[in-house]
Amino acid sequence: MLSRGGDSGNKNILGSFPQQFENTLAGRDIISCRDFNREDVELVFRVAEEIESGVAGVEDALRGKKVALIFAEPSTRTFQSFYVAAKSLGADVISIHDPSISSMAKGETLYDTVKMIEGYGVDCIVLRHPARGSAKFVAESTSIPVINAGSGSQEHPTQALLDTFTIKKKLGRVDNFSMGMLGDLRFSRTIPSLCYLLSKHDGVRIFFMAPELLQVRREVELHLSQRGVVFRKVVKSEEIREIMPELDVLYVTRIQKERFPDLTEYEKVKGSYIVDMKLLSYGKKELGVMHPLPRVDELSPEVDSLPNAWYFEQARNGLPIRKALLYLILGGVA
Ligand code: NCD
Repeated sequence: MLSRGGDSGNKNILGSFPQQFENTLAGRDIISCRDFNREDVELVFRVAEEIESGVAGVEDALRGKKVALIFAEPSTRTFQSFYVAAKSLGADVISIHDPSISSMAKGETLYDTVKMIEGYGVDCIVLRHPARGSAKFVAESTSIPVINAGSGSQEHPTQALLDTFTIKKKLGRVDNFSMGMLGDLRFSRTIPSLCYLLSKHDGVRIFFMAPELLQVRREVELHLSQRGVVFRKVVKSEEIREIMPELDVLYVTRIQKERFPDLTEYEKVKGSYIVDMKLLSYGKKELGVMHPLPRVDELSPEVDSLPNAWYFEQARNGLPIRKALLYLILGGVA
């Protein structure tokens, strides 16, 4: 049982909240945002807020635990923030960050890699892999909790948690607001996860702003329809400008060049949208601009100095969210 440092007993880190919460995430896999209910999300946010506000003793909360980071795709923010999160809670970390210098490059299967790592007494696996279904496959291959840090173009649930946490902090709510999603909605994995998470909230309106070739996938549309979420596809640039004044938040994604099965298709849409001062001039004065990063050329650096630029703070929010997740999954008292 985890406790506040210096305390003798079992005080939980949420002790300052009037209501006590059951830790519904203890021992759980985080594979898809479809698996969360609203209470799970609120629990993660409360623990993240509590950790951010500097609760004493959390730095020892995972002492004696081991976290494995297996990243078979490039990553800066997700890898580093999971690494820092685990270390700052006192856990040991083992990692494969460059598959080209691990036995994966010799043809070792994902299953064998996971079995090896499990054998070293690891308590939790954080996995990024180019294949859809990879996180679920690994979760079914091991008895320890698995966190999906990106499964091909399919999902990126911890990114959606930090995105939603950012919206809550900046807007003061996650219900009743309008969001534009602009860019590669077809291959971006942050988009489905964010849509699934927003669908647990009330009164969210989504505008999918992208050329037809980059429009949101059918599986996401179906999910939103089933959950009664109001959404609309916006394809033409003139229409995008017309929608801008309605938005509270604009979420931008880069074109996922590496996921195009045919590069001639990529050439057709390359450079087809850019978020700059001109586009923002059509929006509300306080419109928030988000981006999971990295950006390429779709988000002009001229936006960086505006109060509308939420994306660096968004990236920073990855740390408290990932600390909270590791804390709860590895058995923190909530
Ligand atoms: C995203 C990803 O890996 O899906 N990056 C991230 O985790 N912040 C977005 C992207 O690569 O475009």
